[in-house]
Amino acid sequence: MNREIFFRAASEYGTPLYLYDLGEIERRIKRAKDTLKSLDFKIFFAMKANSNPYLLKFIHAYGIGADAVSVNEYKMALFAGFNTGEIIVNGNGKSLEDLEFYIAQNPLCINVDSKEEIAKFGNKNAKIALRINPDVNPQTHPHISTGLKENKFGMDFETAKEVIKTLPSNLKMVGLHCHIGSQITKIDPFIEAFSSIEKFVRSQGIKLEFLNVGGGWGIDYKKDGTEMDLDGYRKIVVPFLSTLDMPIYFELGRFITASAGYLVSKVTEVKRNSYKNFVILDASMADLIRPALYDAYHEIEILNDGEEMIADIGGRICESGDIFARSRKIKIPNPGDLAVIHDAGSYGYSMASNYNLSLKPAEVAFDGEKLILIRKREKFEDILNLCLEDEDENI
Ligand SMILES: Cc1ncc(COP(=O)(O)O)c(C=O)c1O
Repeated sequence: MNREIFFRAASEYGTPLYLYDLGEIERRIKRAKDTLKSLDFKIFFAMKANSNPYLLKFIHAYGIGADAVSVNEYKMALFAGFNTGEIIVNGNGKSLEDLEFYIAQNPLCINVDSKEEIAKFGNKNAKIALRINPDVNPQTHPHISTGLKENKFGMDFETAKEVIKTLPSNLKMVGLHCHIGSQITKIDPFIEAFSSIEKFVRSQGIKLEFLNVGGGWGIDYKKDGTEMDLDGYRKIVVPFLSTLDMPIYFELGRFITASAGYLVSKVTEVKRNSYKNFVILDASMADLIRPALYDAYHEIEILNDGEEMIADIGGRICESGDIFARSRKIKIPNPGDLAVIHDAGSYGYSMASNYNLSLKPAEVAFDGEKLILIRKREKFEDILNLCLEDEDENI
């Protein structure tokens, strides 16, 4: 993205600010579809990655469905124009109230996370898919691995066998589901997971309307070429999935929106002690928690053309872990310079919090010409309102 766009966005809407390049989202969708084109497939966007309704509408226009993990994500999908038949429900630990809502909605399918969840349906009719935990190492950060037996998600093959054998007649099992983790760059874990599911399907002689293989495609955060091996996926995984002879569903999140998003912030202070240089931004872990939570790497660009230095880049939160990058080589900034954090379009705003009573940033989309405000900056009054009793102005 052209530097001038960052300056324009910051001066019109202030910082910190999430800025999304719609052209990049379109390119990512095209790349995914191109990789899968020889398959009978459908992509569902994992809304947990980014649930801004403007972006959801934009993504929906490319024939993509929605993967919702909460009642509120489901409602947001409806608001953004997805039909119930285009929404898949995910999530573990669904409450009875959650399930009641989903069942009444009659979505494309509810992914059941456990044997225990089956009992919560009572005698209500629903289309379900069983989430299988194939016990495969996705070779990613432990906090975003979901398909190992020590992870809380899904059921093992033995449990699935038992669930299928004892499935009440009000539940129609239309598919199987698995999602082994996120930010995966190699195809081996996918092959291992899908092969064991294929063996299971054949051994059980079950007829399915689809197989849902989840998401997890990794992106090139470090800009060193390490990203999901799409070529390998197209040449090896896709032909394997074709042999299953049924539609294959994908729940992609990160791959679609991460590289389209930037967290645009301002340098508030350049601080030096005898040991280190620190660059402090007006953004923080409250806006983008991935570095603090997962030690995640994000490229950070200081929009200034001066000399370089090595510094830790941190946020304005009272917390030692509020560091975006350690010992990073950057342009020596002056207070007021813009610092742009790249690849923040997935698990950025959607994981933002009000820690230290931070106000959530504005979100702006760039359509190649104009900037469009797609979410206003939060105000202190928005937070205070939740604490006021009716007619109480005196907190
Ligand atoms: C069930 C499920 N599906 C899909 C996704 C999307 O993953 P990604 O953003 O890595 O594609 C997730 C992410 O955690 C998930 O838990």
